[in-house]
Amino acid sequence: MTVSFDQTLSIVNELVFAKRGKYLNEPEVVVLKGAWNNWDYDQMAKHSRFSINYLQRGVASKLFDVLTKTIGHGERITKRNIKFFLEQAVKNYYSKSASQNGANNLSSGQVLGGQPPELSFFYGRTHELTLLKQLVTTNRCLAIVGVAGIGKTMLAAKLISELTNKNQSTFDFVIWKSLAYSPLLNDLLDELLELVCPEEYSSNLPEYTQAKITLLLKQLQTSRCLIVLDELEGLFQSNNLSQRLDYRLFFRRLAEERHESCLLLTSQIIFAELNDLISSKRPIQFFKLEGLDPDSALQLLRHQGFTNEEDCLSLIETYRGNPSELESLVDKINHYFAGSVQTFLKYKTTFVSSKLEATLNHLFSQVLTDIERSIVIYIAQEIMLNSRSVTFLSILDNLKDKRKENYSTSELVKALEKLEMQSLIEGFKDPNTKQISFTLQPVIKKYITTDPLGLVQITDTLPILSTIS
Ligand SMILES: Nc1ncnc2c1ncn2[C@@H]1O[C@H](COP(=O)(O)OP(=O)(O)OP(=O)(O)O)[C@@H](O)[C@H]1O
Ligand SMILES: [Mg+2]
Repeated sequence: MTVSFDQTLSIVNELVFAKRGKYLNEPEVVVLKGAWNNWDYDQMAKHSRFSINYLQRGVASKLFDVLTKTIGHGERITKRNIKFFLEQAVKNYYSKSASQNGANNLSSGQVLGGQPPELSFFYGRTHELTLLKQLVTTNRCLAIVGVAGIGKTMLAAKLISELTNKNQSTFDFVIWKSLAYSPLLNDLLDELLELVCPEEYSSNLPEYTQAKITLLLKQLQTSRCLIVLDELEGLFQSNNLSQRLDYRLFFRRLAEERHESCLLLTSQIIFAELNDLISSKRPIQFFKLEGLDPDSALQLLRHQGFTNEEDCLSLIETYRGNPSELESLVDKINHYFAGSVQTFLKYKTTFVSSKLEATLNHLFSQVLTDIERSIVIYIAQEIMLNSRSVTFLSILDNLKDKRKENYSTSELVKALEKLEMQSLIEGFKDPNTKQISFTLQPVIKKYITTDPLGLVQITDTLPILSTIS
């Protein structure tokens, strides 16, 4: 089992804290890291702001005393043998965690695997957090879905920081992995197994993917583990069909087979692989994430120096409280409009951030089905020409019979549901007529009508929108 110094440090730090009520200080970490890398004190001093003399005489011997008491198991720890003891300590720590079913042994704030983002500025999301805390303890698989930049990663990070900060943690382990780099399932399983059962990983790792999933499931039965797989859309950027099938089966097994843990996915897009599992309601629980509530979005804008509440509320409404769209807009207003929201508002334009545009490019080039594409284009046309929204019946009438595709009503309803789940269209009911209508939020409308890469209008069945953009 190979562990990094940072992983080792976080575990040893907790053990030292438990022993002496104080974490390792900076010079102690310098010596620990130096000893881990087998440096002499001269090298340690060069890599730090402390002198050789201080590190060697003032810090090292006391540090080795503490470590002897904490992880020495009766042996004296020295600079020579320290690496062995550190590795032993990490190994013991993991196997203890794995064997203590249900025990509250997750150290405060500790997350294994990757690093969730910093949460220095985090606004709102109180309701979402309350609901998610309940959902992660009652579901084996949960998917947070929302458009680019809406705050999925931040919310998942906040959730685990709250779950691990309390003295009694609900989970024995929390693992964070981003799938942005599209790992092969086999490699991801190796990483997960190394974290949840290091002993079996090093001595008894099965060869085949399905057997690895079985081993992981066995561990997830004995320990309560929260595995966050962030940026799921990374997996489906490529059209590697066998990879997609592998992951589909993996999600399915984790969602359906009995265990005590939770797989938390975040994704911008609902892929066919997920949709089957979500639409059957169980076993994957779906959580649609919308923008920040107006008060929290106001806080975000105030923090960026935008203080006029009325102007800010107008931006928040247009960008549906999407924090990263708002942040990107703030940069543009500062750069091009001398920081004046009022001047910007006079021009009545909508900016689409490059992040959102990239996601929409991907959606329109690879993900949306013909029927989904026809619906969004039809809604865009109608709202550009006549009205603020389009009724469901008008969509039915226009897309069902009058076009050569001839979609069935149930196909149209399914497509509308999926588009709404991904916030690509917005549905609302008239309280009087009870009629459901659909519209597009301004950034999506802007993308569709300007069609920057020509990815929207690829069929010849629909009139060209460029005349009205
Ligand atoms: N609750 C919040 N409070 C303050 N800022 C936030 C909050 N949520 C998101 N942000 C801001 O918006 C940015 C985007 O958030 P985040 O990365 O979580 O979005 P995302 O939905 O994961 O995006 P992507 O789809 O690209 O992965 C963050 O970097 C942060 O600046
Ligand atoms: Mg993200």
